[in-house]
Amino acid sequence: MTRFTVAIDGPAASGKGTISRAVAETFGFAHLDTGLLYRAVGKKALTFTDGPLDPDLAGNLAAHLTEADLAADDLRTAPVAQAASRVAAIPQVRAALLDFQKRFARREGGAVLDGRDIGTVICPDAEVKLFVTANDRTRAERRFAELTANGHETDLDTVLADLRARDKRDASRDAAPLKPAPDAHLLDTTELSIDAAVAEAVTKIKKRI
Ligand code: C5P
Repeated sequence: MTRFTVAIDGPAASGKGTISRAVAETFGFAHLDTGLLYRAVGKKALTFTDGPLDPDLAGNLAAHLTEADLAADDLRTAPVAQAASRVAAIPQVRAALLDFQKRFARREGGAVLDGRDIGTVICPDAEVKLFVTANDRTRAERRFAELTANGHETDLDTVLADLRARDKRDASRDAAPLKPAPDAHLLDTTELSIDAAVAEAVTKIKKRI
């Protein structure tokens, strides 16, 4: 097995990031958190405006992302998440990020990518596709715990409202909307521990290896 792609999609704070990292570790695959790409573009966009951005300018920002942009330590803030979701609806941005993600997915040694459109657009031929969900209150509680642990001051209602706004925008946009691929396995993590969710994902992958 030299090339093997696992596509993991789902809404914000569904657990897909945690599952993806654990899957990468278990199988020795490379991992790409594709949300970081959009967050890095969103952060750059905020230096111009917090309103609508010219689509070609946005595409240009995406085309010129560097490793350093992706390593910035402030990509996990709420304003950057919302900005990411706004730029992610711009087709020029998605087009500029497409090749990098496709190449990453087919690298030697296996890859796991997590995002919103991995199973539908980036890797429609992925060997395994998972669509990870959880109810929105549970997701907001998880994100709230993560943000406060990292020193961000916020409250649960604000986090819940932010998540809902982002999910709605991500699912209703024309360009690569958030939705399960027809052949994705649905994994609802609402009632699952992290270990149980990871174990389910690992079982599905082992069946295809
Ligand atoms: O996964 P994360 O919450 O970091 O993603 C931030 C935003 O980036 C999402 O709300 C979504 O709008 C966008 N995104 C996307 N397609 C992906 C990954 C993220 O549109 N594959």
